[in-house]
Amino acid sequence: MQKFKVLVTRKWPDSVEKKLSEKFDATLNLADIPLNEEQLKEAMLNYDALLPTVTDKISNNILAVENRRVKIVGNFGVGFNNIDIDSAKDNGIVVTNTPEVLTDCTADIAMLLMLGIARRASEGEPHVRNTEWVGWRPTHMMGTKVTGKVLGLIGMGRIAQAMAKKAHFGFGMKIIFFDPYFKNKEIIEKFSATSSDSIEDLLSVSDFVSLHCPSTPETQGLINTEKLEKMKSSAYLINTARGDIVVEEDLIKALENNQIKGAGLDVYLNEPTVPEKLKNLKNVFLLPHLGSATEETREAMGLRVYDNITAFFNDNEPLDRVV
Ligand code: DGY
Repeated sequence: MQKFKVLVTRKWPDSVEKKLSEKFDATLNLADIPLNEEQLKEAMLNYDALLPTVTDKISNNILAVENRRVKIVGNFGVGFNNIDIDSAKDNGIVVTNTPEVLTDCTADIAMLLMLGIARRASEGEPHVRNTEWVGWRPTHMMGTKVTGKVLGLIGMGRIAQAMAKKAHFGFGMKIIFFDPYFKNKEIIEKFSATSSDSIEDLLSVSDFVSLHCPSTPETQGLINTEKLEKMKSSAYLINTARGDIVVEEDLIKALENNQIKGAGLDVYLNEPTVPEKLKNLKNVFLLPHLGSATEETREAMGLRVYDNITAFFNDNEPLDRVV
């Protein structure tokens, strides 16, 4: 029986690579070296499916290549702002993503960032490692209490709801959210959450603001100086969504001027480059885009791609079709 040719652009968990190789004529990237635009264009000519991830920029140049063979782009990641969706539509290419399976792990990282920055974990840990810690004292490294505080969620999708659950039931936090598209009363009642009419109102009352919206033309640059000025000076910003939702320069200024108390970030504007100014600040907790990085989740993400392309090649509708 014919085996469809699929190209995996980066190293995937072994178990998923094995499963993929059994079913498809799969080209893997065991060396995990990112492909350049020319290599991706070439792949479009020679494979039935391209399986990129969130760091592969799949532009119109790639999608619109002449004599294309690829029929489906199975993205390894829930975010798909790395793919020119309009071009995929215009060129009749199916695109899928991997929602649901990374919800809890990403919400866990948002909780970790919130706790880590508020309780000064990233400042404290090197003290122990570098033998700078001189012992317990009443005023040593006092942070901010998290339990019982107000958590403001911008976007109320799956990851925000998972964070709301952990924060509300685990830490007794009051949940407020801004999401004009979210109307699920049952969930709102479950977390005793309050819907805010505007982002500005949410920012002015929240002790922690966590971003959970996708990167779209509407949300890019959403958190700028004007918005940061609306936040309490005692408040923290948490970002596990996408770097371009925040104007990074404006955030750095707000942190330098103590306009806000701190930030916990997992995502950046130009990953993996993080501005030196940000790295030099003490009031930030910085992680290298670890939201979904657990063995369980990365495996589940790979299997989701597998299921999507398997459905597609069996002439069924892929579960996670976005185009
Ligand atoms: C995604 O899937 O979009 C995540 O950012 C990867 O962790």
